[in-house]
Amino acid sequence: MWRRTTLLSSLMPSSKASLLHQMQAAYGLKIWGAFSTEVLKPAKGRIPPREKPPFITFVLGGPGSGKGTQCAKIVETFGFTHLSAGDLLRKEISSNSENGAMILNMIKEGKIVPSDMTVKLIQRAIESSENDKFLIDGFPRSEENRQTYERIVGEEPNVVLFFDCPEEEMVKRVLSRNQGRVDDNIDTMRKRLEVFTSLNLPVINYYSEKGKLYKIRAVGTEDEIFEQVHPIFAAFEVLK
Ligand code: C5P
Ligand code: MG
Repeated sequence: MWRRTTLLSSLMPSSKASLLHQMQAAYGLKIWGAFSTEVLKPAKGRIPPREKPPFITFVLGGPGSGKGTQCAKIVETFGFTHLSAGDLLRKEISSNSENGAMILNMIKEGKIVPSDMTVKLIQRAIESSENDKFLIDGFPRSEENRQTYERIVGEEPNVVLFFDCPEEEMVKRVLSRNQGRVDDNIDTMRKRLEVFTSLNLPVINYYSEKGKLYKIRAVGTEDEIFEQVHPIFAAFEVLK
């Protein structure tokens, strides 16, 4: 669950609550400190709890389908925070965490890391950000990933993007990208594609049935692909 707060006004006598409303209107959230109780006061240096759940976009697609590239464009244009599940796991490896060796082995084999671990890394990253809109790239990779997120976080995503790219194109991109990744080689790539087909496609179907899925044809130039992505987020901006 996202950490939530009770409306300050519901804890106060009505005259004080009405004054609070007026001051909140005038000064926005800066009024917080003046009226907060011990319980509501955020700890020093910590991000205050959210009053409403953040806007969450899951970004799906096979390895090399262009998720990261398009996420960078969405961040630049619409101010989202980009959280790549793979990057969070790789950071865990390089921070010498106790699970680092296990995560590294799973990544080398193209296997899916236990969902609890990935969901907690995502949850921690969201909670330590002040932004209220996130792109969660490469997640959920399986039905189990999806169900674990729902169980731990207790929320559904607002939008799900799926970058649909032919296999030969994905293989070509991954083998030529040269980012020094242990899993960007032909053997691991084969395994990643198998895992994608067997475990990720059911997730894509699940969101499609829920009417949350936006399928993008992920071939062409970065700008051509972004032309399909842009209107989706522009529409949500208008609704805000
Ligand atoms: O998304 P990316 O290609 O960076 O993921 C690299 C690897 O990280 C995956 O092949 C998988 O081993 C692991 N991963 C995972 N669970 C996720 C996302 C990535 O286990 N949700
Ligand atoms: Mg990526």
